[in-house]
Amino acid sequence: MRQTDWNGRKVGILYNAEAALVRGFARDALSEADTLRTVALARRALRAIGARVVDLGLGPEARTVLARLARRPPDVVLNLCDAPLGDVTLEPHLPAALELLCVPYTGAGPAALDLCRHKSTVKERLRAAGIPTPAWTVVDPHRPLPSWNIWPAIVKPVAEDASCGIDRGSVVHDRRALRARVERIHRRYREPALVERFVGGRELNVALVGGAVPRVLPPGEIDFSAMPADRPRIVTFDAKWRAGGTEDRGTRPVAAGPLPPAVHRALRDHALAAWRITGVRDYARVDFRLDERHRPFVLEVNPNPDLSPDAGLARAWERAGGDWTGLLLAILEHALRRGPR
Ligand SMILES: Nc1ncnc2c1ncn2[C@@H]1O[C@H](COP(=O)(O)OP(=O)(O)O)[C@@H](O)[C@H]1O
Ligand SMILES: [Mg+2]
Repeated sequence: MRQTDWNGRKVGILYNAEAALVRGFARDALSEADTLRTVALARRALRAIGARVVDLGLGPEARTVLARLARRPPDVVLNLCDAPLGDVTLEPHLPAALELLCVPYTGAGPAALDLCRHKSTVKERLRAAGIPTPAWTVVDPHRPLPSWNIWPAIVKPVAEDASCGIDRGSVVHDRRALRARVERIHRRYREPALVERFVGGRELNVALVGGAVPRVLPPGEIDFSAMPADRPRIVTFDAKWRAGGTEDRGTRPVAAGPLPPAVHRALRDHALAAWRITGVRDYARVDFRLDERHRPFVLEVNPNPDLSPDAGLARAWERAGGDWTGLLLAILEHALRRGPR
């Protein structure tokens, strides 16, 4: 690909400057605070190559930032905002506004962002395309618990990410625990609960970066070997966001250990199919687990995944020989080449 000369280019960094979220648990905002660190690193990396960085931190209202974008549009926007006004349901609206203002931006468009947040809708599409995803049911608030007889099961909010609502009580072994967990999701997140078959083998993730046919990066794996035996082997909220805690240490992201060639191929094919089916762009990460027969199941597709240097995407990029600034520029380059919409 032709390399853009970034010297003097105007790059806007769009992010949520307010850490409070409107739903869920107060601590869910920890995931937002981490984004601020990524914003600072991106600002520094872009300035170092001569780009002019425009700070687009969203406060409690969007008017100021939108007015600024309309008045003096940057050449391209790095979209790091997954919860405008503290509300993840508004995530698709920013790219929509950018399209109306004809400003190119990185990552998924409004439709793909909205689709991927709804895990069960993505699962339906995957299943229709023959991509394995764990058996599931969705329980709406105020509806009776449907029959369910696959144990263990995991219960998650149907439309959150960043492991919000996932803790060591999320894996349930009987109907009583299932009911309690489903009610808790309804209460805290005011949204349906997703009940899934717990697929307990190795956890792998595949990051993709690029255009219509993206580059598939070497798979990553979660090393659960330091997880205490009495806790489920899952990436909980605390594992992701409470640095240094037991669950953080018990979920070490590493390069995937050796995989049978057929499994490696399946991960790659399923990840590419998931990219196409969901319509994500520029960068994405697909989360998998293997079952007892080493068959990969897609848990979810993450559009605009965490870009921080210690998250899975950047680690995979580095394993493939690149550095973090290179990753940032690859993503910006694709956005710029695509143009405003
Ligand atoms: N069906 C499942 N079987 C086994 N583990 C699961 C399953 N669903 C989720 N998990 C565990 O929970 C974590 C978070 O779930 P995920 O669906 O990826 O949601 P999020 O959007 O919050 O990352 C996963 O990384 C995995 O460890
Ligand atoms: Mg995930």
